[in-house]
Amino acid sequence: MTKYNFDRLIDRHGTCAVKYEGLDQMFGRHDVTPLWIADLDFAVCPDITAALLHRLEHPVLGYSAAPDSYWDSIIDWQNRRHGMKVAREELAFIPGVVKGIALAVNYFTSRGDAVAIQPPVYHPFRAVIEGNGRVVAENPLLFDGKNYTMDIDGLRRVIAETKPKLMILCNPHNPIGLQWSRETLAEVGRICSEAGVTVVSDEIHGDLMLGGRKHIPFCDASDDCRRCGVMLGAPSKTFNIPGLVSSWMVIKNPELRRDFYHWLEVNEFSAPVLISTIGAEAAYTHGEAWLNEMLAYIESNIEFTEQFLERELPQVRMVRPEASFLVWLDFTDLHLDQPRLMDMLISEAHVALNDGAMFGRQGSGFARLNVGTPRAVLADALAHIADAVRHHVTPTAL
Ligand SMILES: Cc1ncc(COP(=O)(O)O)c(C=O)c1O
Repeated sequence: MTKYNFDRLIDRHGTCAVKYEGLDQMFGRHDVTPLWIADLDFAVCPDITAALLHRLEHPVLGYSAAPDSYWDSIIDWQNRRHGMKVAREELAFIPGVVKGIALAVNYFTSRGDAVAIQPPVYHPFRAVIEGNGRVVAENPLLFDGKNYTMDIDGLRRVIAETKPKLMILCNPHNPIGLQWSRETLAEVGRICSEAGVTVVSDEIHGDLMLGGRKHIPFCDASDDCRRCGVMLGAPSKTFNIPGLVSSWMVIKNPELRRDFYHWLEVNEFSAPVLISTIGAEAAYTHGEAWLNEMLAYIESNIEFTEQFLERELPQVRMVRPEASFLVWLDFTDLHLDQPRLMDMLISEAHVALNDGAMFGRQGSGFARLNVGTPRAVLADALAHIADAVRHHVTPTAL
């Protein structure tokens, strides 16, 4: 018996939801099914709403300090869910994961410095680096037509050639949905530690492991990783509360964190926000059953998508994610250039997916599908994509 209803269709119009209100700006029309930006169309765990409403019953919303119970809820969660021990002094609040990355880029590097990333990867990594006058050093993932792996030799080469001060790692990796193995993370830690490169590990999808897999937090993978790692996490993707903007940072190495945490503190970048901490604490304390059910629903949506593609649309392949609710679809067999592919999805299928090329040129020929939506919406969108593709594929290409 399940307790939560993820099949429920919830009208999000008029709620300032970027996924809906941003369609015109991003795709040039709003009469399309939005399966792009990475939030879920599901109602949050009711305990989170109850905790927020309870606090809002008090009529004064003054300056506030996060209680010990907030910090304990993060520490307990990391231990319970991932077996990672975190001490209070290793933790800092940050106002969002991308902002945390931006703060680290600004603090640990100077204008003109190289920062390494591994495309195709979450597009704000590049935007933050370039927008702050730093230079992107690319170590693209390896793709054999089916699976992606990290290019460890490439990483060694890129570090030797470009001498980056920082690397931004995505663990698990968006848009592919890959959880890096302990061995791979330890190797990254060894290479970066030896070269004096700080590794900012974005672990926002780390709680969303699928198929019984375990998330390996970067700062738990090896001593080298602990030495050079700045780990960022959040309850936002996990519990569908990105609108509350609550995230955290863990740095194990006291040398690495001392001055940085002081800089965050004096600039009040790490000052916790009332509503964020209430939502986060309620989520970590009461949300686990909701999360487990939600992940089971996502797994069945992924299964559904895989079977649908095999049956109805074999010319489009998916990379089966190990984590999270984002599915990387490979349209390269259609031989459409990227603008044509996106135009087909928008103008003919009427479905808004993330353009694969936004994650790097290696994403050309791909699109990212968000399956964090009721099954009926997903089924309808896939049927429309299938119709549009069939219309495009010549009999010889089939
Ligand atoms: C890998 C990754 N990092 C960060 C974010 C955004 O985090 P925040 O909203 O906390 O900045 C996302 C959202 O999709 C993401 O996929």
